[in-house]
Formats: sequence, structure tokens, C-alpha cells
Amino acid sequence: MKKHLVFSLLAAVFSLSCVSGAIADGKADYDAICASCHGADAKGKASMATAMGVDAAALDLTKAGIDCVKVVTEGKGKMPAYKDKGIDIAAVCAAVPK
Ligand code: HEC
Repeated sequence: MKKHLVFSLLAAVFSLSCVSGAIADGKADYDAICASCHGADAKGKASMATAMGVDAAALDLTKAGIDCVKVVTEGKGKMPAYKDKGIDIAAVCAAVPK
């Protein structure tokens, strides 16, 4: 009986750490990959916008109505596609700072 309880607790802790692990990876990927263009605050890097020849607002991911998963999967204009690049796109999008 007691053993069973301990196991249940361990299982609960393990599944919780899996969930937060996925979010942490998304954040790590955002910082490692996306922040170079979109900035750590996701408001877009003006210098990168200039270098890429796009409007600064195009790099702002904090505006409303963006379909992040679609754009990151398929790419858009000068935004590279990340399908098959081994990142969890949903987790990265969930980790985009708002
Ligand atoms: C090499 C620079 C670069 C990197 C790295 C990059 N992006 Fe982008 N991203 C762009 C550019 C440039 C655009 C604007 C494309 C356009 O509108 O033509 C864009 C657009 C977007 C948009 C659409 C914004 C809108 O207004 O619809 C999203 C969402 C996005 N990026 C998310 C990401 C995420 C998440 C990552 C990391 C996996 C990432 N980007 C990595 C350059 C980059």
C-alpha cells in the first residue's frame, strides 16, 4: 500500500518534470535560434531587420494574429523554414516571449 503511494508520487513528479522540460527546451531553442533575429524579447532586432532588408515590424513576434507554428514550419519570405530541423516547433512557439 505504502509502496504503491510512493510509486504514484514518483510517477506524478516525473510527468510534471516532463511537461516543464518541454517548455524549457522551447525556451532554450528560442534563445539559441530565434533570438538572433527576433530578439530575446521577441520585439525584433532593428539591426537584423536592416541587415535582412525587412521592415522592423516584420520581426516583431509580440503583435497579435501571428500563426507562429505555420510560419516556423513553412517559412515566410526571408524567415527560414524549420520543418525537419529537429526542433519542437510547438514548444518553441509556446516559449516566444509575449
Ligand atoms: C535569420 C533570421 C531569422 C531567424 C533565425 C528566425 N526568423 Fe522568424 N522571421 C525572420 C524574418 C526576416 C521574418 C519576416 C518574414 C516576412 O514577413 O517576410 C520572420 C517572421 C517570423 C514570423 C511571422 C511574423 C509575422 O508577422 O507574421 C514568426 C512567427 C517567426 N518569424 C518566428 C520565428 C521563430 C519561432 C524562430 C526560431 C525557430 C525564428 N522565427 C527564427 C527571420 C528569422
